[in-house]
Amino acid sequence: MSSRIAVFGTGYLGATHAACMAELGHEVIGVDVDESKLAKLESGEVPFYEPGLDEVLKRNIANGRLRFSSSYEEAAEFADVYFIGVGTPQKKGEFAADLKYVDAVIETLAPLLRRPAVILGKSTVPVGTAQRLAARAKELAPAGAEVELGWNPEFLREGYAIQDTLHPDRIVLGADSASSERVEQVAREVYAKLLAEGIPFLITDLATSELVKTAANAFLATKISFINAMAEVCEAAGADVATLADAIGHDVRIGRRFLNAGIGFGGGCLPKDIRAFMARAGELGADQALTFLREVDAINMRSRTRMVEVAREAVGGSLLGSRVAVLGAAFKPDSDDVRDSPALNIAGQIQLQGASVSVFDPKAMANSRAIFPTLTYATDIEEACQGADVVLVLTEWKQFRELNPNSISGQVREKRIIDGRNCLDAARWRAAGWEFHGLGRK
Ligand code: UGA
Repeated sequence: MSSRIAVFGTGYLGATHAACMAELGHEVIGVDVDESKLAKLESGEVPFYEPGLDEVLKRNIANGRLRFSSSYEEAAEFADVYFIGVGTPQKKGEFAADLKYVDAVIETLAPLLRRPAVILGKSTVPVGTAQRLAARAKELAPAGAEVELGWNPEFLREGYAIQDTLHPDRIVLGADSASSERVEQVAREVYAKLLAEGIPFLITDLATSELVKTAANAFLATKISFINAMAEVCEAAGADVATLADAIGHDVRIGRRFLNAGIGFGGGCLPKDIRAFMARAGELGADQALTFLREVDAINMRSRTRMVEVAREAVGGSLLGSRVAVLGAAFKPDSDDVRDSPALNIAGQIQLQGASVSVFDPKAMANSRAIFPTLTYATDIEEACQGADVVLVLTEWKQFRELNPNSISGQVREKRIIDGRNCLDAARWRAAGWEFHGLGRK
């Protein structure tokens, strides 16, 4: 059975969710206030880089199941299920999440709901938000108590967005006891194909569902900062963090994934989510429980500074006047996202210390230029490495991981490379005559 779905917000989360819901056979309308984004999506163009999304988008626009609009009236009239997929960025000058986009969806949509409806929130929000929004929606909607709200957090990773949406590890659904039956029934219809595959379906209260998401991201951030803290100790002790990660990762209770030491986490989620989590815990009087996340954040930011220091030492103690090639600007590979990107942050810090920095990234050039116009951007790896005193690999794109040292040996001034992601084969680079540095490695 197909559902009629509206998805509010057409960023990474919303656009992917809209396209994937159509792929599952539902009729979907994607809604955004940004007309330029809508124009691109309508013509089948994804406004950001996400492998495979353009095909899913084009296919479902062509078969008539997916369309886009800026009209809330049209969406309210058309759909029975309304997903909220707008952003919840960090507030300026504060740790807390800015809920103005989420609030705006409810304030605009609810007054238009004249029939029974189910709203399912997907955005990452501070615990307590869903309950507040549920009450507000009922208050504003002509359909009143017949408008019900559940929370259905999203766990997709950029770069694997389609796979994570169509084959998630689990589906979590929060609802309050009064509306849980209808909310569950609607969610079961929407995700029928996934549930038939046996994907775990967890039904919780609203607060738990919100916390599941924040806790998951806090855990992942902690795992990364844990291994980066180990990297610092390894450096001091003359040990090797990559081998250490392999060895502890064999313990299934620990697991090897998300134990890659390097310049740490960035992006539009992990950094702001742990901060919003601390802020919310403070409001709830539970701030002590999350003080360790301050340390997680501090270790993460220190990983960036350590990288700058390693680069400075490698070029002889001062970056002033040196030429630095930076390979990678995106916060992770297979993405053009540069929000809070460790790579760009490091490139900027190095430039501020007087080096001339030339950056190359396979996909994130336009976004990098927009937020960091003062860096030099090269058209390919070779150009970035021209005359370099040191090459820094800061995002582990496949083409950097597989780079043949000899292909840039002729370009650089000094055959010196620093692997900020522990993604290169050190022996191969050394065999080709390169001076090789890693973070937390011998
Ligand atoms: C993250 C979560 O992994 C998703 O489950 C979640 O849905 C999403 O946030 C979200 O809240 O929307 P994402 O931001 O796409 O997904 O990126 P990750 O794959 O988690 O990587 C985050 C950062 O950690 C990257 O900068 C990456 O380079 C870094 N990282 C990752 C490491 O430094 N080491 C690792 O071992 C793994």
